[in-house]
Amino acid sequence: MAKRKRRNGPVSKVAPSLPPVTRGLLSPTRRVPAEIERPPYAVSGEPGPSVSSVTRTPDEIAAMRRTGAAAAEILLRAGDIVRPGTTTDEIDRLVHDLSIEAGGYPSPLNYRGFKKSVCTSVNEVICHGVPDSRPLADGDIINIDVTLFRDGVHGDTSAMFFVGDVDAESRRLVEVTLESLMLAIAAVTPGGPVSDIGKAIERHAAKHRFGVVREFIGHGVGTEFHTNLQIPHYYDRRLTTPLETATSFTIEPMLTLGAPDAAIWDDGWTAVTIDGTRTAQFEHTLVMAESGAERMTVTPAGECAHDRLPVAVV
Ligand code: MF3
Ligand code: CO
Ligand code: CO
Repeated sequence: MAKRKRRNGPVSKVAPSLPPVTRGLLSPTRRVPAEIERPPYAVSGEPGPSVSSVTRTPDEIAAMRRTGAAAAEILLRAGDIVRPGTTTDEIDRLVHDLSIEAGGYPSPLNYRGFKKSVCTSVNEVICHGVPDSRPLADGDIINIDVTLFRDGVHGDTSAMFFVGDVDAESRRLVEVTLESLMLAIAAVTPGGPVSDIGKAIERHAAKHRFGVVREFIGHGVGTEFHTNLQIPHYYDRRLTTPLETATSFTIEPMLTLGAPDAAIWDDGWTAVTIDGTRTAQFEHTLVMAESGAERMTVTPAGECAHDRLPVAVV
C-alpha cells in the first residue's frame, strides 16, 4: 500500500504481543526466468511517477480478472503451509515459485528495492514484513500479501492466517478486520465518493473499539502496482473523488487492538505498531462496475483465502 504522513494517536491500554517479532536472516535473492514479462521497476527498483489512468479498458479488466484469479490461487496455496515451524522465507519461496509457474512476476520483488517476492506480516507487524528465517510460532497471526504481475497488470490481495491455537482477542480482531473490508466493498457505488470506503471501515472498527491505521492506504492498481488514486481506510469528508466505472483499486484495511500508530524498522520496510499490540489486514483488488465493486482477486470458482478462516463474518 501507499504511505501516508505521520499523525499522533492515543496511548494504547492493550497489552503488547509478547515476545515481539524480531528480524531473522534473509535468504539470497530469488531469480525470475528471462522469459517472464517484468514490470518496469524490476531492474532499477524504481517505479517512477505514475503515468497510467485510474480507469481500465475492457481488455485490461479482462486481464485483471485473470491475473487476480491467479493471485488468489497463490494466496490459497501459501495459506496451506502456514503452521508452527514454517518460516516466512519458506512462504516466500512458495509464492515466488508459484508466481513463475503461473507465468507471472511476483510484483514485490525489487519494488522500491523490496528484497522478497511477498510480504509476510506477523502479530504486531502492520504490513510490508520481509520474509526471513523466523519460524512461525503457535498462537501467531500472519498476513500474507501476494501481488502478481501478468498480462501487463497487477493483482494485489492479502489475507490473515492463524498459526495453531490463537487467542480469542486476536481472532476477533481478524474477524472484524475482514468484516470491515467486506462492508467497504459493499458500500462503494459507481460515481460515489472514495470517502464511502473509510466511512464503512471506521464505523465498524469503532463499534468494536479497534484502531484504523492511517499511515498506509489502499491505492489504484492495474497496469501499475500503485497509481495516483489514494484509498484511505479512515473517514474524511474531503475525499470526494468519484469512483467512476472501470476504476481499478484496492481496499486493504489494517485494524489494531491498540493504538494505530506505526513505526518502521531500520530495514526501511517492516511497519509495526508503536505500542506492540497486534494488527490485522485483508486486501482485495477491485474494479468498479455498474452493479458495484467487482472483486478481481477470487479464483474462477469464486473462492478466496479468507473463506477458509474459522471465523463467522456477519
Ligand atoms: N502489496 C502491498 C500493497 O498492498 C505493497 C507491497 S510493496 C512491497 O500495496 F514492495 F513491499 F512489496
Ligand atoms: Co495493495
Ligand atoms: Co498488497
